[in-house]
Amino acid sequence: MSRHLTLALSKGRLLDQVLAYASERGIDITFEDRKLIAHDPDGLLKLILVKNADLPTYLRYGIAGLGICGEDVLYEYGDELVRLLELPFGGTTMALAGRSDLQRPKWGPMTIATKFVRFTHDYFHERGVPVRLIKLDGSVELAPVLELAPYIVDLVETGSTLRAHGLRVIEELKKIKVHLVANRAYWKWHYRQIERLIVRLSSADA
Ligand code: PRP
Repeated sequence: MSRHLTLALSKGRLLDQVLAYASERGIDITFEDRKLIAHDPDGLLKLILVKNADLPTYLRYGIAGLGICGEDVLYEYGDELVRLLELPFGGTTMALAGRSDLQRPKWGPMTIATKFVRFTHDYFHERGVPVRLIKLDGSVELAPVLELAPYIVDLVETGSTLRAHGLRVIEELKKIKVHLVANRAYWKWHYRQIERLIVRLSSADA
């Protein structure tokens, strides 16, 4: 059995919060310039830095046993992963948004641009609302501005990206939390080591 646990982290705005949170609990992680693999000085963790949407793939194939990511990613790509711990940072809201002068249509399908097609499809279909979805991989706020689609479903944190494009939240759909997740087999195999990590990550600041 390897001495360290392998933990996948996502590039992007969550990363700094994860590193700060870990550091406050005595786990110092530094990725050297441009490097995508790091080790903590105590030899507890091997860390790999991946694109958000790829994180479940690395766990599914057992390349990383653990990961930290949002429920948005889990819903789209990683529903087979075990959720071990909800983390107290990085929360956002999945929201339906559009131009400030726009309401939800009374009838007829809404055309929605989004990265989160599975979530959006399921959310509206479960409520009997017909939707046409256009898949984008980022900069979703451009869609209403350039008239690709009148509506978007996207993560909203501060709301500043929406405001900068003359858009507003029409409806909040779901609060999105950040979780420590695991490949199920890896979790069983490394149970004690992972439990120790969970205790450490659940603790108040060191
Ligand atoms: C996310 C999200 C919004 C923005 C919301 O994008 O998709 O675009 O953050 O944040 P705000 O409410 O604080 O403005 P991200 O920066 O992850 O990049 P993306 O455009 O590639 O999705």
